[in-house]
Amino acid sequence: MTTRPGSRVDSAAAHPSAASDPHGHRPVLLGEIVELLAPTSGESVVDLTAGRGGHAVALGASVGAAGLLTLFDRDPANLDYARARVSAMPAAPRIQSVHADFRSVALMMPSGTPPANAVLADLGFASTQVDDPSRGLAFSHDGPLDMRLDPTRGETAAQLVARMDERELADIIFHYGEDPFARRIARNIAQTRARVPISTTGQLASLVQESYGARAAASRLHPATRTFMALRIAVNDELGALEGLVAAVRDAALAAASGSPTWLAAGARVAIMSFHSLEDRIVKRAFAQMIEAGWAESLTRKPVEASPTEVGANPRARSAKLRAIRLVR
Ligand SMILES: C[S@@+](CC[C@H](N)C(=O)[O-])C[C@H]1O[C@@H](n2cnc3c(N)ncnc32)[C@H](O)[C@@H]1O
Repeated sequence: MTTRPGSRVDSAAAHPSAASDPHGHRPVLLGEIVELLAPTSGESVVDLTAGRGGHAVALGASVGAAGLLTLFDRDPANLDYARARVSAMPAAPRIQSVHADFRSVALMMPSGTPPANAVLADLGFASTQVDDPSRGLAFSHDGPLDMRLDPTRGETAAQLVARMDERELADIIFHYGEDPFARRIARNIAQTRARVPISTTGQLASLVQESYGARAAASRLHPATRTFMALRIAVNDELGALEGLVAAVRDAALAAASGSPTWLAAGARVAIMSFHSLEDRIVKRAFAQMIEAGWAESLTRKPVEASPTEVGANPRARSAKLRAIRLVR
């Protein structure tokens, strides 16, 4: 299979294992990612968002038993799952796993790790996280209003909704969720929480629906879709984490260009797949700066998107935008 930068190919066809879904999450743009990162036998690869291990298995197969796969994830359960899945492969690479936010990749890389030849970040959440009502990520199942991708630390969505003033809530719902009814939803949240704490996904979903009034019936998406996305982004500081990651890549690219040791190897390939326009903007700008500075070259003239076949099999792939660079030294 050949992937021209910016072209669309069918991941599921390229990697038949992706078509069946025993691990609860279909890896998006799997064939394209492996082709762009081009890991070879014995290399050191970092999967910053191990998730259910879908991409990790393919990357691990490429580096083989002589290679090293370093897995990161904020979610300890996903990290363990991905590690176990890769370890069970024939000719599995050496694996190290790190429970951390990828913004700290440069600090958290286990000591003695050889510089990475290829790095992947597949942003957002895994289907299994959304499908688990106890994680509070979905308006379609009632559960605690949590939304943390790392359930061991940080403020829950219920705490955030209780703490922020009405204006901050409206700004989050408007900017991260692009919901035209953001102000009305924030007002409804403020009025409701003055009477009763908002502690479940069901409560929040009906409150948002109520805020839409008669327009709820005309809405193509469930009225709560945008509010839930916005709060998830805020609870997990997803844009801050991505800014931290691209800064870590930029610092490493600068160090590599000046011949200093860093966590990225000379010629390292870095791929970031985003699902939100604000994320894609951060990646696009950061990569463009590195290319302009002469530290990296682009591997994707345009962002790579999923084929209609892949979107048909996995609707989550619809908004994926994949960008990749290679360090020039
Ligand atoms: C889309 S899923 C990855 C799926 C994976 N590529 C696969 O094929 O199974 C994203 C994963 O990244 C994790 N994650 C999200 N933001 C993170 C961050 N800032 N640092 C580390 N992990 C993060 C989530 O917990 C989730 O497990």
